Amino acid sequence: MVKPKYNTWIRRKRIIIFFAISLIILLIAGLLAMKSIYFWLLGLLSLPFIYITTVLIITYYQFSSGGGGYQDKIHTTVASLLQHDHRQVLDVGTGSGALAIKIAQNNSHITVTGIDSWSKNWEYSKQQCEYNAELMGVSKQTKFQKASASKLPFTNNSFDAVVSVLTFHEVTSVQDKASLINETLRVLSPHGEFVFLDLFRDESIFGDFSTLISKLNASEIQAVPLEDCLKLPSILKSKHSLYYAVIIKGFK
Ligand SMILES: C[S@@+](CC[C@H](N)C(=O)[O-])C[C@H]1O[C@@H](n2cnc3c(N)ncnc32)[C@H](O)[C@@H]1O
Repeated sequence: MVKPKYNTWIRRKRIIIFFAISLIILLIAGLLAMKSIYFWLLGLLSLPFIYITTVLIITYYQFSSGGGGYQDKIHTTVASLLQHDHRQVLDVGTGSGALAIKIAQNNSHITVTGIDSWSKNWEYSKQQCEYNAELMGVSKQTKFQKASASKLPFTNNSFDAVVSVLTFHEVTSVQDKASLINETLRVLSPHGEFVFLDLFRDESIFGDFSTLISKLNASEIQAVPLEDCLKLPSILKSKHSLYYAVIIKGFK
């Protein structure tokens, strides 16, 4: 059976780079005699690279569908938090379309629009989203469009629900994260529902959490740490992974 191609949030390019650096350092060390100080220095230098490569590989495994499947479990959690019977849903930073497709599969009356900048930095594409949607039988219910989360090409109140997973922290062009999130809330209709998952507790990216929440243009907001919704393996609870992850949900 052909499966959809949902890449993980760990870019394979990154694993290859760290693996290659570790290997090169170890190879050079291997060419030197054990008595040489450079052998030991290079050995020491390789340790952080080997450590990062190992962490990246284990994290990749936990997120992937062939491994722990946590990326899918997280999308299922977010999709299950959407309470109402919506018609028009927007997924901001849709990646390979996994969440958009899941929401469409949950309700045949829903149309889901997925937007993404699909920059070269990532291993996702619009074609991949469309291929996955076709494969999962929801191509008529989904639309994928290249756009930036910082300036959405939709008029105010266009959607009755908006979702986003781990995208806002990636939009480095906008420092004011409240205004970035409010751009997504702008296209949500009054009383429309939103569910966002991101590293909202990371103050270096989002600033003070309470200040962030107070600046959002929503009438009702609830914050739930991801850990309260889904038990995560310890590697995904680390500060380099989902330690700061919080779901904020509510109504405009
Ligand atoms: C960690 S991935 C998450 C992808 C997807 N939400 C998921 O859960 O699989 C971050 C996504 O943010 C997208 N992204 C980064 N900057 C963006 C921007 N300015 N506008 C829209 N999407 C952006 C990336 O292309 C990538 O797909």
